[in-house]
Amino acid sequence: MNRVLLDIWLVLALCLTSGLAADVTERPYELVVHRELDTLKCTYLALRETQHFRGLADSGYFKSKRLESGEERIQFIAKEEQAVWERAEALCGEKYTWDFYTLIHTVPQGYEMEQVVLPPVQDYVPQLEVSPLITSGDSSNRVDLVFFADGYTSEEKDKFLDDALRLAEDISSNQTFYTVKPLLNFWAAFAPSKESGVGVGGKPKDTVFGLYRDGTELRGVYYSKPEVAREACDSLGTQCDYPILMGNDPLYGGLGGEFTVITPSLANGPLVLRHELGHSIIDVGEEYDGGFAYFGVNAAHNTTSAGVPWTHWLSPVPNTATHHHSHSYDDHEHNSPVEGEIRVERAVMPLQNYAWTLLNTSAAWSTTFNSSGQYAWHLIRFSLSGIPAASDLVVSLDGKDLHWAPRADIGVDRWHYDIKLNHTLLEGEHEITFTLKNTETEGEAQLCSVEVLEFGDENEFVTTPGHYSLYPTFSEMNETTYRPTNEDCLMRIVTTPNFCSACVEGLWYALLRRVALIDDLARSCSEPSTLLDVGAQSQSKQQRVLDLALVPLAHLRDTPVDVKEGYEITWVKDGVEVPEFANRTRLVDDGDALGSYAVKVRYWTEEVRVDPEELLESFAALTVLTRCS
Ligand SMILES: *[C@@H]1O[C@H](CO)[C@@H](O)[C@H](O)[C@H]1NC(C)=O
Ligand SMILES: *[C@@H]1O[C@H](CO)[C@@H](O)[C@H](O)[C@H]1NC(C)=O
Ligand SMILES: *[C@@H]1O[C@H](CO)[C@@H](O)[C@H](O)[C@H]1NC(C)=O
Ligand SMILES: *[C@@H]1O[C@H](CO)[C@@H](O)[C@H](O)[C@H]1NC(C)=O
Ligand SMILES: *[C@@H]1O[C@H](CO)[C@@H](O)[C@H](O)[C@H]1NC(C)=O
Ligand SMILES: *[C@@H]1O[C@H](CO)[C@@H](O)[C@H](O)[C@H]1NC(C)=O
Ligand SMILES: *[C@@H]1O[C@H](CO)[C@@H](O)[C@H](O)[C@H]1NC(C)=O
Repeated sequence: MNRVLLDIWLVLALCLTSGLAADVTERPYELVVHRELDTLKCTYLALRETQHFRGLADSGYFKSKRLESGEERIQFIAKEEQAVWERAEALCGEKYTWDFYTLIHTVPQGYEMEQVVLPPVQDYVPQLEVSPLITSGDSSNRVDLVFFADGYTSEEKDKFLDDALRLAEDISSNQTFYTVKPLLNFWAAFAPSKESGVGVGGKPKDTVFGLYRDGTELRGVYYSKPEVAREACDSLGTQCDYPILMGNDPLYGGLGGEFTVITPSLANGPLVLRHELGHSIIDVGEEYDGGFAYFGVNAAHNTTSAGVPWTHWLSPVPNTATHHHSHSYDDHEHNSPVEGEIRVERAVMPLQNYAWTLLNTSAAWSTTFNSSGQYAWHLIRFSLSGIPAASDLVVSLDGKDLHWAPRADIGVDRWHYDIKLNHTLLEGEHEITFTLKNTETEGEAQLCSVEVLEFGDENEFVTTPGHYSLYPTFSEMNETTYRPTNEDCLMRIVTTPNFCSACVEGLWYALLRRVALIDDLARSCSEPSTLLDVGAQSQSKQQRVLDLALVPLAHLRDTPVDVKEGYEITWVKDGVEVPEFANRTRLVDDGDALGSYAVKVRYWTEEVRVDPEELLESFAALTVLTRCS
């Protein structure tokens, strides 16, 4: 069937007179501005050419986010350099007044005027030694994640490389990011620190990025030299899309935001890394309770189809016909959906406390909460650090020992615990108590968080993994939003290694916005292959060959994955489909042939169910003006 295709990609191919065209050759410009939320004063501005951005509107792409520092981070991407400069001045005032830190690579005409001259922020911009960890293609068409060393001395360089490789492999070899691995590169960028380890008590050590903890307890790890980190990432150009600052400390710690900060903790390093990368790459908020930001492909703020981004993943509602309610509900607590609304799983959070408190043996830590007595079962969820043995701590509910035991080999590192109690909590007040028994753990033993959740029975709240519905999530203000699954996603259960399907789909969207499926379309002339030329008269004639280099997905992967996927390749010559070469990455034509060739590539995977922006398609075209012979 020689169907004439009239797609937009073909129109472009037909208009082409020579050279190569593709959907993503133009590099846009990116502006990043940090400013104080109250005064709107800019504190940092970066402007550079950036990786291509599929589906970029003429008005550009604008995103604003609150950083952990309390500042606002604005990102603006546009096709025209002029547009980003105009936005920069609109946000921060005219250029000559800029008295804050900037990183600017190109200055178009009309903007050459000097700005306020600042003393250098750093007398030391690190000389980086960059090594590949896991790579899949040229950085200009990949999303690049770079581990930067902090608190590793020159003698510890090998330890840094080992730590970085272990983490990169953990999150990409058989789980988390493994299906999208061919769209990613992982690099290790080493610069020696003068001192080893991360600072404590709010004081950085003499290290490249000055990482430190606030106290000694295991919680956040902060950076004191953001300018050095920005310069370091910036100096790598398109090779640094997501900088990861790794502090040389064996225990839990981390931070999300402008930079992902992690430690190589055996138990927690991968866990913090994949969760923070989920935030920054997929651009989603939390799924766990007690947070403040719930947004993106995994968050719904109401129960209508328009408000739920994962309607195409919803599971059938279980048959509740045989079920008899033995208790009454509030109006908003029904679980048989109202017309036009999607069913909500029935749960409530009577207690939420991010305690972050050091425990001691002189007095137990306890807290109370009220139950309505209306739920089939409940869960006590908490996280601890600095408590290596079961005999060090007793966790009890209403005086009854819950027989907590630490995760094997956790030592003093942080870990998360769930104690499920499959019976109804009585109506009224209850008390949870953490009693430290071992004086030697004082100063380190810490209760990080504690939460109580109550659930309806299996007809009202489906616990089955892989069930997609509307599961309520409760914010720090106890406001309800909804997530797609109960516990399938590492954005909720940080100890689980995978994302839910809605997040994985969002991951594909996010990556394919910045990566084109086609790496290259190259033309050449070659001797006729005996195979193709059997019986042909022109035995000695050369042939026209077009080679299509694709991102190594589907059958092109190094290591196959347990997900159904494929590439669909369509070749077109002078506007007419060439069916003999369907699904092939090499097209062979007569050596005398002239004209325009176009190829359209569609990738499909069961991990993406809808593709409204056609991000899973790419095309390329070229015109041949000279003969091979
Ligand atoms: C991936 O490999 C790690 C380490 O070998 C293993 O612990 C984990 O269970 C594997 N995950 C999957 C999904 O197979
Ligand atoms: C639900 O949320 C969506 C997306 O935020 C919004 O478009 C829609 O108007 C909301 N519907 C109601 C009834 O609030
Ligand atoms: C959150 O709100 C629900 C419903 O109003 C209530 O039952 C629950 O106790 C509240 N939880 C907290 C921690 O305030
Ligand atoms: C011991 O812990 C209790 C409960 O958290 C707290 O109220 C008390 O201040 C602590 N005592 C000391 C000496 O830290
Ligand atoms: C539980 O409810 C009782 C009765 O309404 C109230 O006096 C008490 O303060 C509540 N406790 C908590 C922890 O909210
Ligand atoms: C609680 O026990 C019931 C009856 O044995 C069982 O059907 C249900 O799956 C259990 N629920 C949970 C959450 O374990
Ligand atoms: C090309 O591959 C797709 C699956 O990826 C398949 O559906 C299609 O039939 C193939 N086309 C031809 C002509 O073989």
